Amino acid sequence: MTETKHIVWHDSVITKQDRIKRNNHQSPVLWFTGLSGSGKSTLTVALENALHERGVRSYRLDGDNIRHGLNANLGFTPDDRKENIRRIGEVSKLLNDAGLFTLTAFISPYQEDRDKVRQIIPDGEFIEVYVKCSLESCEARDPKGLYQKARSGEIKGFTGIDAPYEEPLAPELVIDTESQSVEEAVAEVLEFLKTRNFL
Ligand code: PPS
Repeated sequence: MTETKHIVWHDSVITKQDRIKRNNHQSPVLWFTGLSGSGKSTLTVALENALHERGVRSYRLDGDNIRHGLNANLGFTPDDRKENIRRIGEVSKLLNDAGLFTLTAFISPYQEDRDKVRQIIPDGEFIEVYVKCSLESCEARDPKGLYQKARSGEIKGFTGIDAPYEEPLAPELVIDTESQSVEEAVAEVLEFLKTRNFL
């Protein structure tokens, strides 16, 4: 347990409800999880565009980008991945409170870590989206050449090759990027958000 002695929470006068009212929309956290190369970044970029066009205030957090700054000190050991997801969970919680739609694109390979994020986000506002794509197809795509490096042993502990990926047990949404185009996938997420009254 982290020491929290002598630290006192200080509330704002402006509440989350005030921000939601001003933005005219709620602030769900859309948590995209899937193998490297499954299409998380492509999908969240396209979705961010579609939301922006609809006047939705959103922010996208992406593994590769966050690892350049906030999480530059983390690698890919199980403990580092856990800490990566814990921090992003906390950032998502802040963005949720700030009244923004949050789109996260992290492999987030462990169910336990994703569940921990779910627990700190208000009920019903955490949407786990499984970006489903077989290892075979991700490897065939290999957009950054990382699977090839993992197979040759140049990269150790690569997800799907010699590090685990735990498929979501009960995701709110499954997007199959092998059978769907980016446009179809975005449309499916938007439709889901409408049915949940987020749009
Ligand atoms: S995690 O598991 O959630 O902490 O990973 P994440 O922060 O999403 O970072 C994944 C991106 O890092 C690159 N990369 C690796 N991925 C998996 N395993 C290993 N060992 C590794 N080393 C580097 C890779 O580009 C991932 O990007 P995506 O967009 O998922 O392909």
